[in-house]
Amino acid sequence: MNKLILPAVQKNVSLASMNTMGLPAKASEFVELQSEDELISLHKNGFFEKQKPFVLGGGSNVLFKHEISKTVLKVSLKGIDIVKVDENSVLVKIGAGENWHRFVEWAVNHGYGGVENLALIPGTVGAAPIQNIGAYGVELKEVFEKLICFDLKTGSFHQFTNQECKFGYRDSIFKKELEGHVIITSVTLRLTKKNHLLNTSYRSLKDLLKEKNIEKPTIRDIFNAVVAIRRSKLPDPKNLGNAGSFFKNPVLSKKSFERLLKNFSEVPHYPVDEENVKIPAGWLIEQAGWKGKRVGNVGTYENQALVIVNHGGATGDEVYRHALKVQQSVQEKFGIQLVPEVNIVE
Ligand code: EPU
Repeated sequence: MNKLILPAVQKNVSLASMNTMGLPAKASEFVELQSEDELISLHKNGFFEKQKPFVLGGGSNVLFKHEISKTVLKVSLKGIDIVKVDENSVLVKIGAGENWHRFVEWAVNHGYGGVENLALIPGTVGAAPIQNIGAYGVELKEVFEKLICFDLKTGSFHQFTNQECKFGYRDSIFKKELEGHVIITSVTLRLTKKNHLLNTSYRSLKDLLKEKNIEKPTIRDIFNAVVAIRRSKLPDPKNLGNAGSFFKNPVLSKKSFERLLKNFSEVPHYPVDEENVKIPAGWLIEQAGWKGKRVGNVGTYENQALVIVNHGGATGDEVYRHALKVQQSVQEKFGIQLVPEVNIVE
């Protein structure tokens, strides 16, 4: 039996501590979701008929431009459970509101492999599949088994397999046709118990392990190395507001890439497939003169030009205008249109 527990609806709630950019936006209405029953109750009460809420996880990939007129629904569903064990792997079901990095620590502490390269990514587990988080050669889709989400229209729960999520580079079905229609409530990942598939292909990771004379790394060695690299390159939101990479790395066709090479022969690049090449947006932004540059309360991070930072007191509009200027400079210099990776909330 579902208990009809309606969560409290709070008015005029500050979201400053709930977004890693530290922007001062307020939510006109705010609901914190602590159980799946509460979702069912809200649906039964017609809550989702009136409006589509804005779903907030860890607030690590959002830019609140100003006040949020929609109801903000913060997902705080918790729990880490091993649901199946076999010879080589475990299936772990994680509540959408669990902190991603704490889950990675849990996995490494239990000797489970697969997510160690994804250490220290801010945000929640429920947000991870939306943009198919990735770092240091690994993407979530490689360990993803399935997820459960709640359909706001029908009020029922649905399962999505890996294929059904249509994962791409920082992309999934939840950013496209299902955007605003479902709330992810749990994610199930397949982790290895032994014969771990270690990935040390990423240049900076390989270099650091070599420097430390680690020839046969364990999952903990990789975890430690990723944590060290991220700490040296990316600002800690506790000290300097930011939302990680602000833009995606642009993917160019071979033809456009060759045109670019004529004028900029030193451009770093990575093959995507036979037809396409990925360019680091951080390089483009640095070349356009923005690295470490500060304008008012907003700046581009000194160690990684892809990160826009709030030096304190910035408004969402200010950050947005800064991003537009960066985008415009890159367009003018390279003829490449940068696409934001963060979710810009109007
Ligand atoms: N680069 C520069 N100047 C800069 C920054 C980067 O020239 O200021 C060039 C360098 O050539 C460097 C290359 O860009 O070798 C790649 O830089 P880095 O290894 O820092 O990775 P990235 O491509 O900038 C991506 C992800 C990060 C992820 C890292 C590591 C995107 C949009 N970003 O950044 O993800 O941590 O790779 O895998 O794909 C995030 O999504 O928020 C995020 C931080």
